[in-house]
Amino acid sequence: MHNLHPDLERVLISEASIQARVRELAARLSHDYQDVDRLYLIGVLKGAFIFLADLARHLTIANSVDFMAVSSYGKRAMTFGEVRLVMDLREPIVGRHVVIVEDIVDTGHTLNYLYHVLKGRKPASLRTCALVRKQRESLDVTIDYLGFEIPDVWVVGYGLDYADTHRTLPFIAELKREAYVRD
Ligand code: PRP
Repeated sequence: MHNLHPDLERVLISEASIQARVRELAARLSHDYQDVDRLYLIGVLKGAFIFLADLARHLTIANSVDFMAVSSYGKRAMTFGEVRLVMDLREPIVGRHVVIVEDIVDTGHTLNYLYHVLKGRKPASLRTCALVRKQRESLDVTIDYLGFEIPDVWVVGYGLDYADTHRTLPFIAELKREAYVRD
């Protein structure tokens, strides 16, 4: 058992569970895309970099990775959710088979925005993959490859952060409420 940081309430998803699920998702992707020449994985920075690194290394098909970064406003109030692109892909995706890789879908605004931006660039196909989705009211955005559903609490670890801390924990944990309401 890990000695949990005092800001953490409990481990929600263990390292072993994450690793097993990532291998399953990679196996599904490897199967579904076995007939394409190359799969393009697009990670959404910063949060997705750890998930994407593990996922890509378990693929048994040819793949490339690229990254985008967005900044969002009014995250907690869905009606004001607004997303802005702050870093774009290095290469065009026209005619390519693309999967957007997210660490978490919360309100759904980020994934919804990126899906529509990338769809407009005429990829051969476009799907979505997220490690976790919060069980909460959110935009109706399709997640083709989903790792886990989690309760609507603040989570950190495995790429997810609170003010850029706890990102590199190997598990996903619930942040104590007093750890973020005191700031
Ligand atoms: C997080 C996460 C997703 C987004 C999901 O990013 O990595 O990209 O929020 O939230 P949504 O479904 O409500 O749009 P964050 O803005 O915290 O930036 P970071 O990944 O750089 O930490």
